[in-house]
Amino acid sequence: MPALAVVGAQWGDEGKGKMIDYLAGKADVVVRAAGGNNAGHTVVKDGKKYALKLIPSGVLNPRACNIIGNGVVFDVKGFFDEVDHLKAEGLAMDKIFVSDRAHLVLPYHRVLDGLYEEARGAADIGTTKKGIGPAYMDKVERSGLRVCDTCDPRRFAQKLAEQIDRKNEIITGVFHKEPLNKEEIISEYLELTARLQPYIADTGVMVYEAIRSGKKVLFEGAQGTMLDIDLGTYPYVTSSHPTSGGFTTGAGIGAGAISQVLGIVKAYTTRVGRGPFVTELLDETGERIRQVGHEYGTVTGRARRCGWLDAVVLKYAARVNGLTGIALMLLDVLSEFKTLNICYAYEKDGRRFEHFPADLELVEGCVPVYKELPGWQCDISGCRSFDELPENARNYIREIEELTGVPVKSVSVGPDREQTIIREEIF
Ligand code: GDP
Ligand code: IMO
Ligand code: MG
Repeated sequence: MPALAVVGAQWGDEGKGKMIDYLAGKADVVVRAAGGNNAGHTVVKDGKKYALKLIPSGVLNPRACNIIGNGVVFDVKGFFDEVDHLKAEGLAMDKIFVSDRAHLVLPYHRVLDGLYEEARGAADIGTTKKGIGPAYMDKVERSGLRVCDTCDPRRFAQKLAEQIDRKNEIITGVFHKEPLNKEEIISEYLELTARLQPYIADTGVMVYEAIRSGKKVLFEGAQGTMLDIDLGTYPYVTSSHPTSGGFTTGAGIGAGAISQVLGIVKAYTTRVGRGPFVTELLDETGERIRQVGHEYGTVTGRARRCGWLDAVVLKYAARVNGLTGIALMLLDVLSEFKTLNICYAYEKDGRRFEHFPADLELVEGCVPVYKELPGWQCDISGCRSFDELPENARNYIREIEELTGVPVKSVSVGPDREQTIIREEIF
């Protein structure tokens, strides 16, 4: 039975939330496997907007069971803020489970995220300051606290106390800041983690059993390919694996379990935070894309950097994720432009690059080589089939397929669930 993985093919914010919500209608299980509440997935249902961070976007669908896998760094405070908020919006929060193996994001991670960024000065990464990097640092350094540690409050309090002491040494000794209040944190987190107990499960078993018994399992990607700690624009990346490989270790399943990988592609390019961006538009066109696409971050409210579609990035994403299909998003945002550009190579000092280079200093000075395509200059937000789209929009889509070698299986022409054109059944 098919398990479908949905990944961001660019720098995040491609519209994954909308597609997951759409696909979750057919899913039995929706699984998040990497990242944390640095993600911001917007889902619009019946004109109402929901902003999801840690909780899978399948939650708007009463049928689906939602799982937060072991690869996620889990902010229990952020989790309950989100649960309470979504409950107040009238959503049922009874089908959510968090892995006992997931690592916890704790207050000192958030504090250290801010301090490390400050220390980087002008070379800061532009993180979301949610403590994601420091939480993954502890995990890799083998001093992290996991969700299963919370099941024994005495042991949890002891481990937490040790970690607060260690982190306070860094906060006071290295950064010369006030120490965190150990007693206050322990008391708050004992309360929060007591409330967490009914949500905890060995989610790897749940996902395995679901796949084995023929249920439909949807893996929800957060962030995007170019933010992958190994494969992205390092060091301007997040600290996890948002690419398709991250789903296996992050959900605790075998590599063979995933039969399809859908790449979510924004019809242009955006990124938040610092780092190279070859097709970035620092002119009126970039500003226009930002305004029409409402390109402001869900988590931090920061203005997103905007630019033309970069097929060098897409080809890279197709390769490293093994994309079997593309869901093209936000095509309607490009409707007013007379001409559109798609970058298919980079050039620097007479050299041409068709594969995304590792060395960011090299990428920094690269100039995009564009193919210019005519725009369609009409409203497409009401189109519900590929044939209804204007010829130039169809050609833009065909160009993406040609450059990436991956079929565009769906096209999104607006934020609402209904504003979706399905060319080929995905799931
Ligand atoms: P994610 O992080 O990949 O889930 O993406 P975000 O939710 O952060 O950003 C995508 C934004 O685009 C959200 O505000 C969506 O509501 C919106 N959106 C998604 N698809 C479309 C579309 O086809 N057209 C338009 N205009 N907006 C869209
Ligand atoms: P979704 O799931 C866009 C970016 C941050 C920063 C870098 C590192 O909504 O697509 P972090 O806090 O993770 O250590 O920040 O990664 N970033 C995202 N950008 N969308 C996201 O998630 C992101 N999650 C992290 O802006 O540049
Ligand atoms: Mg987002």
